[in-house]
Amino acid sequence: MTTTKEQKKTGGLAGIVAGDSSICLCSAEDENLYYRGFSIEDLTDHSSFEETAFLLLRGYLPKPNELQDYRKKLKRLRNIPSSLKKVLELIPAQASMMDVLRTGCSFLGTIEPESSNTNALDIADRIIASLPSMLLYWKIFHDGNKIPNLEIEEESLAGYILHLLHGKPPKEEHRRCIDISLILYAEHEFNASTFTARTITSTLSDFYSAICGGIGALRGPLHGGANEKAMELIEEIANPKEAKAHTLDLLSKKQLVMGFGHRVYTKSDPRTVVIKKIVKNLIKTKKEAELFEIAEIIEKVMWDEKQLFPNLDFYSALAYHFCGIPTPMFTPLFVIARSAGWAAHILEQRAHNKLIRPVSNYIGPSHQSWSKAKRNDS
Ligand SMILES: CC(C)(COP(=O)(O)OP(=O)(O)OC[C@H]1O[C@@H](n2cnc3c(N)ncnc32)[C@H](O)[C@@H]1OP(=O)(O)O)[C@@H](O)C(=O)NCCC(=O)NCCS
Repeated sequence: MTTTKEQKKTGGLAGIVAGDSSICLCSAEDENLYYRGFSIEDLTDHSSFEETAFLLLRGYLPKPNELQDYRKKLKRLRNIPSSLKKVLELIPAQASMMDVLRTGCSFLGTIEPESSNTNALDIADRIIASLPSMLLYWKIFHDGNKIPNLEIEEESLAGYILHLLHGKPPKEEHRRCIDISLILYAEHEFNASTFTARTITSTLSDFYSAICGGIGALRGPLHGGANEKAMELIEEIANPKEAKAHTLDLLSKKQLVMGFGHRVYTKSDPRTVVIKKIVKNLIKTKKEAELFEIAEIIEKVMWDEKQLFPNLDFYSALAYHFCGIPTPMFTPLFVIARSAGWAAHILEQRAHNKLIRPVSNYIGPSHQSWSKAKRNDS
């Protein structure tokens, strides 16, 4: 069978509508992003990650008392069982933090499995609340070989992450930066990891399997892994004077510049506008100002040469760096945020389930005979 031009265009399923969803609109028309109809600017101006997660999962903005109860619920669900702590202690100190999350989530599914008696929303909340604890328990344990105390007083997930990581209450501007970044990363319709989670769900598999699949898909540098690669790129450029030549060199070698380009947006990523403004306000030192300058030069070269714009991952890398987050933790933070979006999609897929099973365009050899092939061998 030959591949027609029309079929070639669908490589990577680009532009293919793969189902209905009422969770998120990633709009190529006005190059904007909406969760349940609320624009990302509106949410990052007024909302919190907890409220956004509630909106994604339950479909409406919580009333003040509902939000208070939800915050309390997530706080209560942070602690992790001792058997999971033992498993985390056994994971090597050199392991990828993405593997820590995938393994931790998978193990949680063995001790708190989904059954006909469990409420899927409770599992969603449990996963959102406990992923940061798994990650930081493992990190603190291996960094200092001490037993981490997960019971710290922090209202928000953003504050909890920073407080556990640095061992002290975070600055308010860092707390808000991480909170906003979690909102921005929380959902993005049928991206690779969400579609993976929906595909797994469509077989009537369990919640944990779908989340683990999402984590696996997000790990790659063409998806969530891009924020870590973007930081490595910005840091490998010695100073702003070298940024232009360095970027041109990558382009001349046909190398991908991580944190640029997007499958849906064509002119800009609406999330970048939000995070870039925050990054600019976080700059305190000469070194930070220099890193920001390097990033802006890369941005200019990419636009001038390829009409490519920075996606959320590019300036998120600097945001995390300025908040004192180690680079290998960037993609795991993306997981923590996106677990809310994945969970919303798992629930939606279940509500209108149809097995996801496309067909391939076969391009292999036509019918062959085993005995003829063997005869020709001898
Ligand atoms: C996001 C991404 C996967 C979208 O890919 P896509 O829609 O399949 O686009 P394509 O890979 O077909 O790219 C089209 C052209 O732009 C180029 N291009 C796209 N992104 C590029 C990048 N980040 N750096 C350099 N060139 C890039 C491609 O090489 C291709 O050039 P060509 O036509 O000369 O072959 C792609 O832009 C990319 O790999 N970006 C870097 C990884 C990243 O930031 N991922 C996070 C996404 S939110």
